[in-house]
Amino acid sequence: MLEALRTPLGTELLAAAAAALADGAELAVGTRLRAAGHPVDLVAAAFTQAELRARARLKFPAADRMFFTRAGLEQASSQRSAEHRAARFAGLGRLADLCTGIGGDLLALAAHHPVLAVDRDPLHLRMAVHNADLVSGTGGTGGTGGTGGTGGTGGAGGAGVGRGVAVEPCVADVRDVDLRGVDGVFVDPARRGGDLRMATGASEPPLGWCLGLAERVPAVAIKAAPGLPLDLVPPGWEIEFVADRRGLKESVLFSPALATAARRATVLGAAGGHGDQGAGQVATLTGDPDPEPDNRADDAAGGPADEDRTGRLPLRPPGPFVFDPSPAVTRAGLVGTLGRLVGGWQIDPRIAFLGADRPVATPFARVLRVQAEMPFDVRRVAAAVRAAGVGAVDVRRRGLAGDVDAIRRRLLPSRRDLVPHGPTMTVIMTRVRDEPWALLCTEVTPADWEA
Ligand SMILES: C[S@@+](CC[C@H](N)C(=O)[O-])C[C@H]1O[C@@H](n2cnc3c(N)ncnc32)[C@H](O)[C@@H]1O
Repeated sequence: MLEALRTPLGTELLAAAAAALADGAELAVGTRLRAAGHPVDLVAAAFTQAELRARARLKFPAADRMFFTRAGLEQASSQRSAEHRAARFAGLGRLADLCTGIGGDLLALAAHHPVLAVDRDPLHLRMAVHNADLVSGTGGTGGTGGTGGTGGTGGAGGAGVGRGVAVEPCVADVRDVDLRGVDGVFVDPARRGGDLRMATGASEPPLGWCLGLAERVPAVAIKAAPGLPLDLVPPGWEIEFVADRRGLKESVLFSPALATAARRATVLGAAGGHGDQGAGQVATLTGDPDPEPDNRADDAAGGPADEDRTGRLPLRPPGPFVFDPSPAVTRAGLVGTLGRLVGGWQIDPRIAFLGADRPVATPFARVLRVQAEMPFDVRRVAAAVRAAGVGAVDVRRRGLAGDVDAIRRRLLPSRRDLVPHGPTMTVIMTRVRDEPWALLCTEVTPADWEA
């Protein structure tokens, strides 16, 4: 069906399906196309592909000319994430992309390296070759293991910029592939079987096999779930947690030959502030993991000297500003590193919100101004929110149990008490001095930044 969709007729049906989806006219257009005598299964495939392309725009700028399966798209890396990761292989020659899928990573790797692309799913691999060629202008080189040559698509209408090198597709189980002549390996094992997500830490092939690749090729990167237990990271390996804006997406393990830090937190689509921000607004923070939480009480002596001795941030009550770190930073255990960067302190030994005297623009946290604070009691907090005159309420919770949506509904003033276009009040539910605590916060204003 993929080949049929790539013919002039398939291209025409894809365009008609995409236009119908945009106009909400699927039913009428589908009926018209079938009545015109076009094969029913080809029309259906065009509609499925058009729908997948529309969903894929969030991950791929060239989605409207790429090909996807539903499972392949759901598991694919976004182009921005793939390009960020591919830069770690700079300076190496031929790479292997094991478990290529529909080519989310391949299109970034193949822009600068010859790549052996391996997947046991022939349809995924054919799509991957097309997608990589479209984005990186690689030109297919035929293949091994029975794919037959897919051939280059000649930049698929000029989208390829012609800088890519060559993709060598191979339909095989990755365990059977000869890695001689390969300088670096990227592997993105499947974390779902059919429609079912596998248990945390489980994958096909399993993580243990992926880690063992480093005995054959020193430079190895492994994509894993964002919830990967940290005790599975072998000594000497780096783990990176990647968030797209505020959403945690994935973790990546780098073998000692590629590792440059113990832990890394990366925010894609980051705006403003410090951090090593390369092209495409990617901000990355590296460091050693936070020490285990201790049992300190409020730390009057929590100044720089104390911090230096223990490696921990000072512990103090919340100040006029709070930093709500990116989930990439908290998962990477780099809250202390961020705190030192922004001059913040911990408000509780086990909680990742940081207090501070002044705001600092950072891609690694949301900064909020504290308007009021009090022990957490829903009725009392609701009264304070009502009295403040707000247009909306947002609830952030760390260290306290409770259904955020239910609590938000209880805190939201009745419609007549809401101020039209009024400020959003962020209610932080957390622990301070081991007590349930509420911080009522608003966005930082231009006056706060200038002060
Ligand atoms: C998570 S997806 C890869 C996504 C890809 N990195 C992307 O961005 O599009 C996993 C892929 O691994 C393939 N796969 C799983 N086990 C495999 C094995 N043992 N050998 C080869 N391919 C395998 C699946 O067919 C699937 O296409």
